[in-house]
Amino acid sequence: MTTPTDIIKQSPEDKEKIRTRIQKYVDRWRGVEGNLIMILHDIQEAEGYVPREWSMELAKALDINLGRIYEVLTFYTYFNLKPCGKHAIHVCTGTACHIKGSAKLIDELKTRFGFVVGETTPDRLYSLNEVRCLGACGLAPVARVNHEILAKATPESLVEKIESLEKVNV
Ligand code: FES
Repeated sequence: MTTPTDIIKQSPEDKEKIRTRIQKYVDRWRGVEGNLIMILHDIQEAEGYVPREWSMELAKALDINLGRIYEVLTFYTYFNLKPCGKHAIHVCTGTACHIKGSAKLIDELKTRFGFVVGETTPDRLYSLNEVRCLGACGLAPVARVNHEILAKATPESLVEKIESLEKVNV
């Protein structure tokens, strides 16, 4: 997560660049209902996550409270608050998935690949995160690899999916 030190390190030129980009997104979605979410999508598409300093500039540009932005960012599992790996892996640990064995999925990823929940691998290829519900409880246990949902996931099917990504990486 961004620390206050990171924010201090930013040069005035960096801040100006952020302000300009934010203004572009604000102009793009001006007057559109739900524009806050759309702007946050744009930021994440461009940066891979939503850095805190961008949220601070966005709060100023929209004249809203920073807390309102974080309400949205933390409500939707789609948004990342820190840099992610090239491949984002989410394992649902909501009630339905927990009952159907989501802990086994996470254990397999830890054992097999050395992934750590909430962390990105040092080569920046993979991030593993838990989410509370992916909205597909009838298909539990559910995992999401990048934008693909794995229904009724097993340790084997999840490993197979990740290994297929490795082949793409070489
Ligand atoms: S609890 Fe896992 S998808 Fe809803």
